[in-house]
Amino acid sequence: MRGKFITFEGCEGVGKSTQLRLLKDYLEKTSQPAIFTREPGGTEVAETVRSLILNSGFEISPLVEAYLFASARADHIEKVIKPALERGEIVICDRFLDSSIAYQGFARGLGVEKVLDINREAVAGCMPDCTIFIDMHPAMSWRKQNGKTVANDRIENESREFHDKVYSGFKEMAARESRFVPIIPSADKLETHAKIIAALKERGIIA
Ligand code: TYD
Repeated sequence: MRGKFITFEGCEGVGKSTQLRLLKDYLEKTSQPAIFTREPGGTEVAETVRSLILNSGFEISPLVEAYLFASARADHIEKVIKPALERGEIVICDRFLDSSIAYQGFARGLGVEKVLDINREAVAGCMPDCTIFIDMHPAMSWRKQNGKTVANDRIENESREFHDKVYSGFKEMAARESRFVPIIPSADKLETHAKIIAALKERGIIA
């Protein structure tokens, strides 16, 4: 028996966390147990790698960055995602492999193939059934959340050009992969939530 694996992707500040919270409430209300987790993170090892990548202040090359994300992912899949899917549960993950493709592959310039090669063993065939892509251009979202002008970490702190490349990466993946569901967010977060629920129901992922 295999559960369902849903990932959420998108650029910084597009309202992913709000939508994840609304989805969590919906699944609780409708008695559909699900595990909510995030990348990089989800295990002690992966959370430690997360702070190394995002907040250590170390200089990290694009290649090493890609390996660090992949190592965090390997631990997360092995300890959390795979066992839960094998138990038949719904797993919802805030970012996954597609973030590595968009950020390290496109924006850092490593290329899609290299990022896929680095991640092949880490992912071990454990791919999402559905990827909700919150499709909002950085021109609309970048550092606008809460009027924030200072970034939280070394990736968020990259230039507008970098984040524009991340967006192009996601758009290209969305055009290529049928598991991608682009959701154009409405001004009303509940309207966006309704679009996400409808898309997941339509695909038989949730009830
Ligand atoms: P996070 O605070 O989770 O960002 P957000 O709230 O926007 O989701 O930080 C994760 C950062 O790491 C984010 O800038 C995206 C980046 N990232 C990668 O570059 N590659 C990856 O494989 C993953 C999972 C995240």
